Amino acid sequence: MDATAIFITALIAVGVVVAAGVFAVAWRRGPKAAPIVGEFDPEAAKRDASTHAPPEVVEPESELVADEPHEPITIEDRRLPVSAEDLGVTRRKFLNRAALGLFGIGFLGALGIQMLAFIWPKLKGGFGSKVVAGRLDDLRNSVVPGDGSVTPVFVPEAQAWLVPMEESLLPGSSFEGLPVVAGTEGGNTGLMALWQKCVHLGCRVPECESSQGFECPCHGSKYNYHGEYDSGPAPRNLDRFALEVDNAGNLVIDTGTVLETPRATVKTIAYPQGPSCL
Ligand code: FES
Repeated sequence: MDATAIFITALIAVGVVVAAGVFAVAWRRGPKAAPIVGEFDPEAAKRDASTHAPPEVVEPESELVADEPHEPITIEDRRLPVSAEDLGVTRRKFLNRAALGLFGIGFLGALGIQMLAFIWPKLKGGFGSKVVAGRLDDLRNSVVPGDGSVTPVFVPEAQAWLVPMEESLLPGSSFEGLPVVAGTEGGNTGLMALWQKCVHLGCRVPECESSQGFECPCHGSKYNYHGEYDSGPAPRNLDRFALEVDNAGNLVIDTGTVLETPRATVKTIAYPQGPSCL
């Protein structure tokens, strides 16, 4: 079990414990709780009567009323009994609120987990952060096998196409001075990582082997193997990610650093080199 699974499992466990606690409280105060029924204590009433004098009986002014005796109002008269129905309503209210509380806790817990899942890739190294694509030498050998052909390699976790780039082609290009090429040390062919997302409206752009480029199936934008704009509604070259090589010789794609470049005025590689795929 990796750290992500452990963390999410711990969150769920905490949510379950909290929910169980709320439910336990609701249950104790529910049907099994002692009934709220009061017993009248005559001795206590006597004590109360001696402490608190009954209301003074006002002598009626009218002769007609004066003939009728008035019973003094006692504390017992003022005591309002609580009906079983009222008790039921109170208990029902409490249970309703407990249920609402449980629902709220569950909802907030689910929301929290969703938010965590949203930001978690950035914490653990998925898309949006640095992605280790593999050993630079192995990737270069796959992209440029040595027979003169070019085979872009797709890195799913980075949503990127790896394509070759010669250092000698950089001066005067739209990528000059940008950290978009890695692995050119010692005169080797370097690599660039092109974001698969079309810069027009965001469709995924597949490679086209026959034309030696990338051609968007949505509205027909076309780019060469360096991701330079050729035709179509795309406003610029394909975006690319910053690259670096770590101490272990791995190519690291920084998918949190997207580099945009304007439409290439002079292409660094010819396009098309064969029939289009569209
Ligand atoms: S989304 Fe690619 S050309 Fe429109």
